[in-house]
Amino acid sequence: MEIDVVEAPPGGVEADVLVFPVPEPAALPAGAQQLDRLLEGGLTRLVEDGELRGETGRVTLLHTDGRLAARRVAAAGVGGDTVDADRLRTAAAAAATRAADIGARAVAWLVDPESALPSAEQARAVVDGVVLGPYEAGRWKTEDERRPPIERLVLCGPGAAAVAEEARRAAAVASWANRCRDLVNAPGNEMTPERLAAWAEELAAESGALRFEALGPEEIRAAGMGALEAVARGSHNAPRLITLAYEPDSPARPELRVGLVGKAITFDSGGLSLKPSLRMEEMKSDMGGGAAVLAAMGAVAELELPVRLLAVVPACENMPGGHATRPGDIVTALSGKTIEIANTDAEGRLILADALWFARESGATHLLDLATLTGGIVIAMGDLYAGLFGNDDAWTAEIEAAASASGDRAWRLPLHERYGRYNDSYFADLKNSSDYKQASPILAAAFLAEFAGEGPWAHLDIAGTAYLERGRGDYYTDLGATGYGVRLLAELARRLATP
Ligand code: BES
Ligand code: MN
Ligand code: ZN
Repeated sequence: MEIDVVEAPPGGVEADVLVFPVPEPAALPAGAQQLDRLLEGGLTRLVEDGELRGETGRVTLLHTDGRLAARRVAAAGVGGDTVDADRLRTAAAAAATRAADIGARAVAWLVDPESALPSAEQARAVVDGVVLGPYEAGRWKTEDERRPPIERLVLCGPGAAAVAEEARRAAAVASWANRCRDLVNAPGNEMTPERLAAWAEELAAESGALRFEALGPEEIRAAGMGALEAVARGSHNAPRLITLAYEPDSPARPELRVGLVGKAITFDSGGLSLKPSLRMEEMKSDMGGGAAVLAAMGAVAELELPVRLLAVVPACENMPGGHATRPGDIVTALSGKTIEIANTDAEGRLILADALWFARESGATHLLDLATLTGGIVIAMGDLYAGLFGNDDAWTAEIEAAASASGDRAWRLPLHERYGRYNDSYFADLKNSSDYKQASPILAAAFLAEFAGEGPWAHLDIAGTAYLERGRGDYYTDLGATGYGVRLLAELARRLATP
């Protein structure tokens, strides 16, 4: 998407649709009052008649009939009297979706200089909404009826240079989030571990700044990754341990190397501890963490951020079968610890155990993993917040701050050594599941902590946020993948790229 910023009066801005945000109860912002005069009070009349309103997601269109350079104006409801970034994202998404549906290619947006939200922050939120809102997943329909993306966004307001920079950065990141959504929405028969690795390899080839490597099944076994091997062995689709290294020439903090680890179960049937069939199809999304990590590497490389990153994505399929791991099997993880696999459906923590240890051994000083890890986090937080855990307050706080600035929300949950007793096994060092149905997101995180090695580590349980069962009433209007984590990771990288 091409982005321009103009400081000139909005009446002269050329666009298919010129949008301004409207609070609830409806009131015209300063820029819109200017438009209203050119439109001879047309907007005021719509407000008076109760047609132009500010509810979330409401879009009111008016043809300008040549009185403005733009063909139409649109009022986008922000659903409250205070405008925050999230309300703007939602309003911009609704306006862009409507604009795209009527064939618009160029959209303009009035930035409000009087808003409490700085212009650059408004621009960033609007870009998020315009890029993420109109996204549709139906690539597999024989007649592709998906709405075409908006080609040009004109931001009207002061501070052009800063606004343009922020908006262009946001557009790059949001379109990587959409590429992540494409990966996660892809069905398990298409998005196999091999295919995911090929995607990462293509990404590295296109970017030139990323170094790709992948281990296949024999190498995974030979390396001693018994936990990853145990999950992968039930499937005919062979596993991969995918890595992408990003080593910029002059990192802002040369001593820092962040290991980003993402769970990529390309389909989670549960294995022999088979899941119930109701909505099992959603388990194609169990690679949401891995997809977010890979797409975020694309974003960071495109933005050329000076921060050293190592992405490690264990990819495999969790299936029953003659070679599948049995409940009760005991395996040895890469770290040397033994694990009793009490439940083959608690597979995420197994593949992450080896991937985290591998990332640490490969020189990561700080670790962050993203994983669609537990149903319990969906019960606790629904589709809005990921669960955040960490063993180091400063590192966890960095991630919390990046989350809230990015729009990918996260909320910290506790870890305490007392929880560890539920992961104790009578037979082995650890077991991967407890029969007490309590605190499952915390027990899973406590399990991961055993494999994070020395140094800061944090974990995001994204089971509720990566893939929606239904629209969320904001800029995610449909079911399917959200691209959760791409904006968060790009924001984190940007903060770590500042000395
Ligand atoms: N992939 C699932 C978690 C999940 C559930 C993701 C719902 C998205 C939506 C994970 O592998 C899993 O099966 N977890 C089990 C662990 C249990 C057996 C200890 C769970 O949370 O029920
Ligand atoms: Mn599972
Ligand atoms: Zn899973």
